[in-house]
Amino acid sequence: MRNVSMARMTTWGTGGPADRVYVPADVEDLADFLAGLGPGDPILWVGLGSNLLVRDGGVGGVVVLTARGLGRIEEPGGPVIRAGAGVPCAKLARRLGAKGYAGGEFLAGIPGTVGGALAMNAGAHGAQTWDLVQRVETIDRRGRRCWRARREFEIGYRSVGGRVGEWFTGADLRFVPEDPAAVRARTRRLIRARAASQPVGQRSCGSVFRNPPGDHAGRLVDACGLKGARIGGAVVSEKHGNFIVNEGAASSSDIEALIARVRSRVFDETGVDLEPEVRVVGRRLPPRDGCPKPGGRS
Ligand code: EPU
Repeated sequence: MRNVSMARMTTWGTGGPADRVYVPADVEDLADFLAGLGPGDPILWVGLGSNLLVRDGGVGGVVVLTARGLGRIEEPGGPVIRAGAGVPCAKLARRLGAKGYAGGEFLAGIPGTVGGALAMNAGAHGAQTWDLVQRVETIDRRGRRCWRARREFEIGYRSVGGRVGEWFTGADLRFVPEDPAAVRARTRRLIRARAASQPVGQRSCGSVFRNPPGDHAGRLVDACGLKGARIGGAVVSEKHGNFIVNEGAASSSDIEALIARVRSRVFDETGVDLEPEVRVVGRRLPPRDGCPKPGGRS
């Protein structure tokens, strides 16, 4: 597919067109596709499109959508689940509840796929994705597949290093067997806690900023009086300061400008430079009249 709007593929519902979108049927199909790709063609991997801001001018190269073809959940034996990169974390959490596998309850509140959660070591409620990893399957841009051990990566808070030039196509995740009803009850509690503190159901990317050491981005944004700050259709959530919601008509440039405004205000008032967690990609649109867009209240 060519020239496809990314607004349909991101949880913020914004973004210009992708030059080319490829939806693999399965991992073998993906490997063949990559083997035939030119060495310089940029690739953007997209699962559910959370944690991603695509600029209004769109993205060049190829967007690979993982949610369909890499969406298999298998049970290779033991309390292990083999999850494809395209499996939504919430769907995986439901399987864990049905099986009675403890340790992955937090996945119910991660708004993306297993591939995204692996790439950024997504976490919540004191747990993180790589705590579960036994091994991961990767693919490189020539389509070569490989199983790799956890120790081959450098894992930190919301960061995963090592193995540049490879992408995750799936993982074997290990859990602890327990009474399924107890796992489900804990998962439900976490879902309720999230709904009470985050703007669930509104268009957002999840958390915008990483938490700085020893503090919380949401608390700092709140303390600076930035809740409700708006540029165009992009608003800092009144419910949680680390969320920016699209009230319907936001553009990616509204959102990007609001991120910059929040960051600079928090820095001026507290000295903390918040680092965005969200990935920003693509081309800016040239301003229509040569003037910057006016902002709203801040
Ligand atoms: N707080 C405020 N005002 C706000 C928001 C939060 O004062 O507007 C305070 C809270 O009262 C609390 C503290 O900040 O004392 C932390 O808030 P919260 O419990 O909501 O956790 P968080 O650090 O903001 C992290 C993850 C979330 C995850 C939650 C739940 C990061 C950047 N965010 O949020 O992850 O769901 O914990 O465990 O680590 C995500 O990464 O997309 C995400 C949603």
